[in-house]
Amino acid sequence: MHFEGTHKFPMGTRLVWALLNDPGVLARATPGIKELVAYELDRYDAHFHIKLGPINSVFKGKLDVVDKITLRRYKLVVNVDAPIGVVQAAVIIALQREDDGTVVSFTGDGQLSGKLARMGQRVLTGVARMFTKQFFKAIGKETPGEEILAALGSLSGGERMAVPIKVTVNGKVHEHEVEPRQLLVQYLRETLGLTGTHVGCDTSNCGSCTIHVDGKSVKACTLLAVQADGATVRTVEGLADGDTLHPIQEGFNQEHGLQCGFCTPGMIMTSLELLENNADPGDAEIRHALEGNFCRCTGYENIVRSVKYAAAKMK
Ligand code: FES
Ligand code: FES
Repeated sequence: MHFEGTHKFPMGTRLVWALLNDPGVLARATPGIKELVAYELDRYDAHFHIKLGPINSVFKGKLDVVDKITLRRYKLVVNVDAPIGVVQAAVIIALQREDDGTVVSFTGDGQLSGKLARMGQRVLTGVARMFTKQFFKAIGKETPGEEILAALGSLSGGERMAVPIKVTVNGKVHEHEVEPRQLLVQYLRETLGLTGTHVGCDTSNCGSCTIHVDGKSVKACTLLAVQADGATVRTVEGLADGDTLHPIQEGFNQEHGLQCGFCTPGMIMTSLELLENNADPGDAEIRHALEGNFCRCTGYENIVRSVKYAAAKMK
């Protein structure tokens, strides 16, 4: 099922962007969504209540915002596996500034199964059109939260400064225009879609965002994307060789070095730098190297074992 359309708001791009990025606003304006709860940056658990003909159902799904370019566009990825059927959809939402307002265009494709699919293409297209109309009407009446506006505060008049950068990430050269204030971790996750690098604190404490820049482990939330111009970056996605895990990944797998896994990409990247400089580290050296990485599941013993497993394998 394909859907697309445009809607013009008689307001500036900055305000429209803020509205379209405020989870509270989205939850209120999107027909059927009752609540959006963020469990990670730009990743949400969505609670739905759909009333549609014979369907009256409450269920949960996932909603991810990816490929975000501030004030310009993002992609919304929806995944629902509910008793009334499976929904997988991806919608690109783009903003275009005009003299007297902002045009929002959306284009998406969705796949449905179960009861939902049985409603038929014509009914579903009509429902999608009705929902879209309700959504934009509701958005136009909303006010974005102060937090969202504050995050955009350094931008004026709906415009942004853009700085060209060229970065080699996991062997592939990327060229983009980025905002001077964009963090490297945001660039990796939102522009390149490399979400293996996690954001646990945003205050350079937890280490879950650790990557390698020119061979050294760094916390990607402490660098701006513009500072990585010309650099060679390696993230956790760049370690495996096809289906074959890197020894350090294998070590975490074999020695149960992870529980929830949130800290794991950072732990792996920090450990890897250690092993590249010290082929046979002792327990104390491993613990010292990892002291900037926190595991909220407190699985430190097994993390040390995982690093030792990798050290033995890499010899
Ligand atoms: S997110 Fe970078 S150190 Fe926590
Ligand atoms: S495994 Fe859960 S935070 Fe480390």
